[in-house]
Amino acid sequence: MSKVSVILGLNYGDEGKGKVSTYLAKDCDIALRCTGGNNAGHTVVFNNEKFVFHLIPSGILNNIDAVIGNGVVIDPKVLFEEIDVLKNYHVDLSKLHISTRAHLIFPYHILEDKLQEDLKGDDKVGTTARGIGPCYMDKANRIGLRVTDMYHDDFEKKLRRNIQNKNAIFKLYNYELIDEDKVVSDYLNYRDLMKPYVMDTVSFLHKQIENNKNIVCEGAQATGLDMDLGDYPMVTSSNPTIGGIQTGSGLSSKVIDKVYGVCKAYASRVGEGPFITEQKNAIGDEIRELGHEYGATTKRPRRCGWMDLVYLKYAVNVNGVTDLALNHLDTIGKMQSVKLCVGYKFRDKIYDEYSDDIIGYENEVEPIYEEYETNYEIGKINSYEELPINAKKYVERIEEYLNVPVSIIGIGPENEDVIIR
Ligand code: GDP
Ligand code: IMO
Ligand code: MG
Repeated sequence: MSKVSVILGLNYGDEGKGKVSTYLAKDCDIALRCTGGNNAGHTVVFNNEKFVFHLIPSGILNNIDAVIGNGVVIDPKVLFEEIDVLKNYHVDLSKLHISTRAHLIFPYHILEDKLQEDLKGDDKVGTTARGIGPCYMDKANRIGLRVTDMYHDDFEKKLRRNIQNKNAIFKLYNYELIDEDKVVSDYLNYRDLMKPYVMDTVSFLHKQIENNKNIVCEGAQATGLDMDLGDYPMVTSSNPTIGGIQTGSGLSSKVIDKVYGVCKAYASRVGEGPFITEQKNAIGDEIRELGHEYGATTKRPRRCGWMDLVYLKYAVNVNGVTDLALNHLDTIGKMQSVKLCVGYKFRDKIYDEYSDDIIGYENEVEPIYEEYETNYEIGKINSYEELPINAKKYVERIEEYLNVPVSIIGIGPENEDVIIR
């Protein structure tokens, strides 16, 4: 029987999905990305070398097949930068496969991302400015261009039409215009460069399942950023929750046997949007410095705060999480104590799971905290039993509240800094 493990972010991104995915990929045949684009930044420290992946599933470092699925939006410039890094590291790129159905990001999407943020004024989302939202908008509007479209005779015609239509909008707002001939020439070049990697990944994955291969699906972004189930409108333009894994790969729910929900022993968020346990104070600054919380994609300082079990319970239920992967248990040991949010008080009612009653009123929510003494050092250990008692108490409280086992514990940034239970 093949095994399919899905790795999903439970908060607002940057939970350490890359590290967990690369670790689990050791025992897999295929690493898969299904959603998002180069808004993702997945840091992996592998054999003392630091990599930041934006598009290619990080499990490729194990020299296994790597698939960029149909739900991903691809900026070819970023793709080839990433391929070059991997070539220098002697990764076997003949094992990289790109879906014919994945949509392409064009320079006009990046400019539109900026324009739309400018137009939102105070309500801006704080996007990564990588053109992700506009690319998914064009997909939904049925004017997007997919990888497969590059190999059709009318590709240039369609691309020129899109550029002209977008330029008409940019002109209206006195924005710079897209250089039509340059974009066409660049993308005709990408078409040739991409050719060896392109395939029908949906049927490829079905064959792998038939042949009992093991697959690790590396989620991008997170539940709080989900277009439907996250903090709309302060979200990304895709579904980073479990449903996006299926629509973004063509794998059915029947074949998925493990859903690892990844979270940190504290919480962070980049960009705008609600964050009930945020610490906009010296504590937040301390967490940011101890956890090196600066964006892997945009280098922006991440907003930091306490772990929020109320929100995590919602994320566990939305995604059908079977196992938790808890990262940065080492980082909270560097503090004297930490707080854990175990309830929300909102208008005299107590909540133990996130509810849409509070949407738009997050500022009025009072988090109910438990305090845990930490102040420990973990060092190089291999088993749960060796963890300091304060660390174990914290882990076990999380398990009790969420009713899901913490099966993977991150005790450092290196790929092997992991305890498996
Ligand atoms: P992703 O987007 O979910 O893959 O996460 P990012 O790579 O954006 O951010 C996670 C950060 O935490 C990276 O800098 C990782 O190297 C780091 N990291 C992951 N797990 C651990 C851990 O257990 N301990 C420490 N100290 N760092 C970790
Ligand atoms: P990984 O995979 C953290 C956030 C942006 C912004 C919102 C919309 O590394 O966890 P977008 O550019 O997607 O339109 O931005 O979503 N965002 C992320 N935050 N980690 C990510 O990916 C993110 N991808 C998007 O900061 O608030
Ligand atoms: Mg990240």
